Amino acid sequence: MEAYSQYDLSEHDPYLINNSSCLKNLLGHTNTTSLNEAERRITQQTLAQLIASPVQPSFDLKHLAEIHRRIFRHVYPFAGELRKVEIGKGNKLFLPYALIHREAAACFSQLMTENYLRGLDANTFGQRAGFYLGWINKIHAFREGNGRTQRVFIDQLASQNDYFIEWSSISGQAMADASRSARTIDVSARDLGRLLSMNIVKREW
Ligand SMILES: Nc1ncnc2c1ncn2[C@@H]1O[C@H](COP(=O)(O)OP(=O)(O)OP(=O)(O)O)[C@@H](O)[C@H]1O
Ligand SMILES: [Mg+2]
Repeated sequence: MEAYSQYDLSEHDPYLINNSSCLKNLLGHTNTTSLNEAERRITQQTLAQLIASPVQPSFDLKHLAEIHRRIFRHVYPFAGELRKVEIGKGNKLFLPYALIHREAAACFSQLMTENYLRGLDANTFGQRAGFYLGWINKIHAFREGNGRTQRVFIDQLASQNDYFIEWSSISGQAMADASRSARTIDVSARDLGRLLSMNIVKREW
């Protein structure tokens, strides 16, 4: 558990429109419902573009941030930028933003020592990819859009082995539950590993 003193718990969230709970955005929306609707529609297209023309994979924080930039560049002024505010989900804060660089360096250097999961059988790949998904999620590097960004990153790891993950078969609730457990009781992210192992497919073309 990170020391409480690492957090900057000032109330002000510079990513929000003044006196509103809606994120500042490039689309002119001033309420979260309409912003979310437009954001989902636009990112479906940018996610498809990322499949056709992927980010050059270096499997590090720069790579993750470039995926975020490509997905959200039409939507958020902070696309591709690491967050500079504390955020949480389920009443628990993610990593203090001041520690993102350090923790990401630890995560991605361990991934390098595992040779970016190359050559693993499908079940083992799913387990290890789940572990890294849990770690990247714990970092939650961006103010918004972490889920989509980290799934594209894991997709690129998988495609090196001719695997893909059928994300659409994993419910948002199952993903959130396993992600939450990985922050507390399930430190090896076995639940996320199981979810990925159960939904991994070998590409046959
Ligand atoms: N309580 C929680 N603890 C840890 N992680 C959580 C929790 N609830 C949800 N998550 C994870 O946070 C991710 C969502 O983060 P964020 O909203 O920044 O990204 P997104 O791209 O908008 O989301 P989505 O994954 O729904 O497309 C989800 O993929 C989920 O796995
Ligand atoms: Mg979101």
